[in-house]
Amino acid sequence: MIFVKNKTEIEKMRKAGKFAAELLLYIEPFVKPGVSTQELNDLCHEYTIKHGAKSAPLNYKGFPKAICTSINDVVCHGIPSKNEILKEGDIINIDVTPIVDGYHGDTSKTFIVGGKTKPEIQQLVQDTEKAMWIGIEQVKPGNRVNDISNAIDDFLTPKGYGIVRDLMGHGIGRNFHEDPQIPHFRQNKLLAKLEPGMTFTIEPMVNLGTYEVVVSKKDKWTVRTKDGKWSAQFEHTILVTDKGYEVLTLR
Ligand code: MF3
Ligand code: CO
Ligand code: CO
Repeated sequence: MIFVKNKTEIEKMRKAGKFAAELLLYIEPFVKPGVSTQELNDLCHEYTIKHGAKSAPLNYKGFPKAICTSINDVVCHGIPSKNEILKEGDIINIDVTPIVDGYHGDTSKTFIVGGKTKPEIQQLVQDTEKAMWIGIEQVKPGNRVNDISNAIDDFLTPKGYGIVRDLMGHGIGRNFHEDPQIPHFRQNKLLAKLEPGMTFTIEPMVNLGTYEVVVSKKDKWTVRTKDGKWSAQFEHTILVTDKGYEVLTLR
């Protein structure tokens, strides 16, 4: 069941989205060679608490940290660790989800550590961000979830990328994850019709090789590409408006 948000709820979603955007801006200058993912976690968590918000990932279904940090072949749900140190040329997705006044704002970005990496990785990161925006541009009343999915697939698949299937965008509000699911790969069926007041994320995970992923047996969270090739992701929280969309987590 999809929860369509009323005016009051939309105002709260705007506040949560804005704070999530500020949190990603806050952490950006710390994303440098030599920093540990634990330090990035602690900085984000302290900033969140200081502003009266909460970190949704912490203890969510047993997730042990406040943010997700996913490096290179890690697709998503990477767990920050003091032993994991960023180096030049790595790519890291930082995914933050603060709760402000009971509502969630969910956003992520893939950073290139030190600003430079291999050209094919640079291209992967650029194409992944573009794919997210192509999906966002499909958001308007009367369009359907499958229009988002297919636009993203039409852009990425001809380039030879693997689009992750096991993890999708999602409705968001009082709940971290609610209906509808937003696939980022081709859907040959009619999915939910978009209506003003719906809020959901668009967050394509894009692999240089196969779309297949494996979940760590050790920690039960870390999702990696099956073939070890690198993966990028960008995420925004979107509101469907009367005319089209509003990016609630715009930086
Ligand atoms: N923020 C992730 C998403 O985009 C979810 C992380 S769940 C966690 O949906 F438990 F790993 F935090
Ligand atoms: Co999300
Ligand atoms: Co997220």
